[in-house]
Amino acid sequence: MVLLGTLQLTDEERALLAGDEGPGVRRAMEMVVALARIYRAERLLPIGSAQVAGVSYANIGDAGLDFLRAWADEGARVRVPALLNPAGMDRQAWQEMGVPADFAAKQSAIVAAYARLGVRLTCTCAPYLLEESARLGDHLAWSESSAVAYANSVLGARTNREGGPGALAAAIVGRTGDFGLHRSGERQPRDRFRVSAPLETAADWGALGAEVGRRTQGVPWIELEGPAQASADSLTEAQLRDGLRALGAAGAASGSLALFHVAGLTAEARAGLVAPPAGEPQVIASLRESYERLDGDTVPLDLVASGCPHASLEQLEAVARYLDGRRVAVPLWLTVGRGVAEQARDCGLAGRLEAVGARLVSDTCVVVAPLREMGITAVATDSAKSACYLPGHQGVAVRFGSLERCLDAAVRGRWA
Ligand code: F3S
Repeated sequence: MVLLGTLQLTDEERALLAGDEGPGVRRAMEMVVALARIYRAERLLPIGSAQVAGVSYANIGDAGLDFLRAWADEGARVRVPALLNPAGMDRQAWQEMGVPADFAAKQSAIVAAYARLGVRLTCTCAPYLLEESARLGDHLAWSESSAVAYANSVLGARTNREGGPGALAAAIVGRTGDFGLHRSGERQPRDRFRVSAPLETAADWGALGAEVGRRTQGVPWIELEGPAQASADSLTEAQLRDGLRALGAAGAASGSLALFHVAGLTAEARAGLVAPPAGEPQVIASLRESYERLDGDTVPLDLVASGCPHASLEQLEAVARYLDGRRVAVPLWLTVGRGVAEQARDCGLAGRLEAVGARLVSDTCVVVAPLREMGITAVATDSAKSACYLPGHQGVAVRFGSLERCLDAAVRGRWA
């Protein structure tokens, strides 16, 4: 055992830090140990998986590509399952998307570097839709903020909101520091909200998430009552899951939400592991102001986008059902993990979507694709997270509303 401040390392961990498994592993261990010491962890924890953000060339650029290549050259390889976040383009259909060739070449090089490091090229922010990725109490090192909120809140797993390099380092050594949301005490709710506003659509849940994220710096406890509870009771299990996904994604985008508890719905609240905080709750009786904050005023649209976080099969089915017999006038992207896209092809859903003019776009999303280089300046979305990020990150105008409102706009080519 070696002591580094309050941090105790086992003999095996000390060997990794000393470089016994090569410079790439040593570099990863140095990062994990540095983070653990900053946050005064006393030990490292084994992790079940990592989820690695920092993939789009638009975000990490040449410096990020060089960093990944150098790490791979040093012989680093992940030792636990490591899943990749969306890239800047559909890896198979980037030309049809209109992605410039020089961007595509750099993006492909980044993905190739991740492959050399042993990362699975899932390119999705919703890996949990296809396979059981974590269970109550599992320790993870995930970095995509919407996936972090989902894993912590809905699955009851434990992960901090890792940076991309931090998650990759954790995957390479199979460990992370025992601090923050890995510790039970840090998972107790601090701020209490009582929500009565109806939560009928994923956009409503997203608008709620954006509002809660704006109002809290800690872990919120959310109680539903009246119309909110009635809406939740009327949703299918899949719709409720997609609502909670939207809530967490938006809260992470408008604030720093990484864990939320909803009484009776989320994992630790259901298991009785957390309790409501004392004190009067903040009341949210209407989402009108949240909608107004997220919605812009542009009318002609270049693109309508749904699938942030990446869409579920049930969400794709809802689009096909609503547009049946109609055809879109502006491009409609349904961003989706490749695995879910394959399921949609297998069951004939993809054909129904293509018949109305929708495009299933895999591996990427509107927030990380090079929209302006593709001539896109105005986007409508039902995702509160996208609506939070698009103006600042992409410099495009945004309309935000329910899926039905977005699909109507896709048919008309204008926001009504
Ligand atoms: Fe996923 Fe992109 Fe939204 S990574 S959560 S679809 S911003």
